[in-house]
Amino acid sequence: MARITASVYTSHVPAIGAAIDLGKTQEPYWQPLFKGYEFSKQWMKDNKPDVIFLVYNDHATAFSLDMIPTFAIGTAAEFIPADEGFGPRPVPKVIGHPDLASHIAHSVIQQDFDLTIVNKMEVDHGLTVPLSLMCGEPDAWPCQVIPFAVNVVQYPVPGGQRCFNLGKAIRKAVESYDEDLNVHIWGTGGMSHQLQGARAGLINREWDNAWLDQLIADPAACAATPHIDYVREAGSEGVELVMWLIARGAMQDVAGSPGSIRARHRFYHVPASNTAVGHLILENS
Ligand code: DHB
Ligand code: FE
Repeated sequence: MARITASVYTSHVPAIGAAIDLGKTQEPYWQPLFKGYEFSKQWMKDNKPDVIFLVYNDHATAFSLDMIPTFAIGTAAEFIPADEGFGPRPVPKVIGHPDLASHIAHSVIQQDFDLTIVNKMEVDHGLTVPLSLMCGEPDAWPCQVIPFAVNVVQYPVPGGQRCFNLGKAIRKAVESYDEDLNVHIWGTGGMSHQLQGARAGLINREWDNAWLDQLIADPAACAATPHIDYVREAGSEGVELVMWLIARGAMQDVAGSPGSIRARHRFYHVPASNTAVGHLILENS
């Protein structure tokens, strides 16, 4: 049986990808940020999964205004890094897990969530920057990855409660897959940031950290945070945080699953480009 053993949460700022690709990680601006991921890179080596179910958002790269799926699961055998205007990032292609992805699609759709099946897709910084932060600069990513794209760009976007419930459904789906696989689920994007309008540059350290506290200790209450609170408190792009609730909903301490969780790592840093960076590792124990 496949099992979800851990969840990882991290922001996905494109400038972080550029800092890695251009060899700037030890510059004074970036050094404190990358220091926060040293533990995580070692943890990834010590706890290597077979598959990462990677929840992220596409930034009008694979999906334009022509077609806007709320939830899209990548069922392809591979996913190529996208060109977001400066050429594709020089990172490995992402190797998928079509069989597990198809199984999850089947199970989650039968649990009444509408997923778009994506058999061909390029992946942008939303997916590749978290992989770089957690895995460094390998010649190949250490495991297979199932991309799971959430629309948090074009309104209407899904709220935290629906994302949390979807996480529970994904857990059931993984646990009904008949092969011994160690699966991690990642929630990415956030934390507070606003890239546009009169409040561009908004950062809210206090709200971010209180939200992290609640995500860890009382995820059901955190899931009830109304969509408008994210926008008001964490900025228009801070709403990316609802994706973290998908990963959190898949952990075993959440209603219906026995067992507890252990927080292995927590990091928060400002600034990275226009964004507050948050990062958590939670293990099922
Ligand atoms: C920035 C942050 C994002 O989440 C993003 O998708 C693009 C840019 C930024 O801080 O620059
Ligand atoms: Fe983003």
